[in-house]
Amino acid sequence: MSGFLTGEALRAFVHALPKVELHVHLVGSASLPTVLELARRRPSAGVPTAPEALAEFFTFRDFPHFLRNYLAVTSLVRDTRDIHTLVTGLAADLAAQNARYAEVTVTPYNHLLDGMTGDDLLTGLATGRAAAKAEHGVELAWCFDIPGEKGVVAGRETVVFALRERPEGLVSFGLGGPEVGVGRAQFAPFFTRAREAGLHSVPHAGETTGPATVWSAVHDLGAERIGHGVGAYTAPALMEYLAAQGIPLEVCPTSNVRTGQFPSIAAHPIRRLLDHGVVVTLNTDDPPMFGATLDGEYLAVAETLGLTASEIARLAENAVHASFLEPASKAALVTEIKEILLQDTEHLA
Ligand code: ADE
Ligand code: ZN
Repeated sequence: MSGFLTGEALRAFVHALPKVELHVHLVGSASLPTVLELARRRPSAGVPTAPEALAEFFTFRDFPHFLRNYLAVTSLVRDTRDIHTLVTGLAADLAAQNARYAEVTVTPYNHLLDGMTGDDLLTGLATGRAAAKAEHGVELAWCFDIPGEKGVVAGRETVVFALRERPEGLVSFGLGGPEVGVGRAQFAPFFTRAREAGLHSVPHAGETTGPATVWSAVHDLGAERIGHGVGAYTAPALMEYLAAQGIPLEVCPTSNVRTGQFPSIAAHPIRRLLDHGVVVTLNTDDPPMFGATLDGEYLAVAETLGLTASEIARLAENAVHASFLEPASKAALVTEIKEILLQDTEHLA
């Protein structure tokens, strides 16, 4: 029997697991040194240029405060080189977590609004993706998402851009930004077009609001996976539905704490979701902005919930199964996870 791990043994086990990240925003993945460098180039954007002030800027009062500051950082990103820098920086950070594959959310509408050309964006994504594989051994896929706060015009532009350009690695279509006052259903036509063209539906829902938003993501947007979705925790029938349909949640515990949804990881409903059979995956969302890492999310959840090694490995496996990787790539990662678990079991025996 695989048992409980603590301290350095737990850290080593979590790190050794080959991991998959299903919910990370490209702009939100910018390292603190990268944000400082971009901010110094464009001081008028209002993003601090000194480390202490940036730490304060990334201490969020609530979700709207987070989103304002996130969009200020977005406005710093102006050209192909910036996009390439973000993508390769993310790949290096993923490799350091022993993450092998990530589905990365990109918000083309915001970049185009800030004056970047579509070609600049796509070139930066393509060269960055190639370098991620060649230099860091990390496979990247893209989710193009609608910034919900910009309304249906952003929905239309995003789906048109996604389907016209259809860059290599684009696997899914999303919806981010605020949920309060931004109903999911208004975006249904754009999700229909994206799904008909073969993109997977992965909207944010139930991050800052409750079960009704998650139901809407499922019924109106055909969600195959849900960004966050933790707001489902108050509705047993919804959790049972998600479990029965195998609709995984991209849970980002530290993000939820840092934007004020829950006071601590201990108060996070992740245990309740697991107990109802919901497929939970662990993710970072906007890692440097929240002081999060992928290993850190696994560690925090394992320690707080008192998970066994096999329960931790199951979370890593969930992410592999919930990904849009090819079956052979999934099988290889699952085999590796099982080997790590077996080594741990033999070590403890
Ligand atoms: N954009 C970047 N991070 C986000 C989050 N956590 N929720 C919604 N939109 C986002
Ligand atoms: Zn997100």
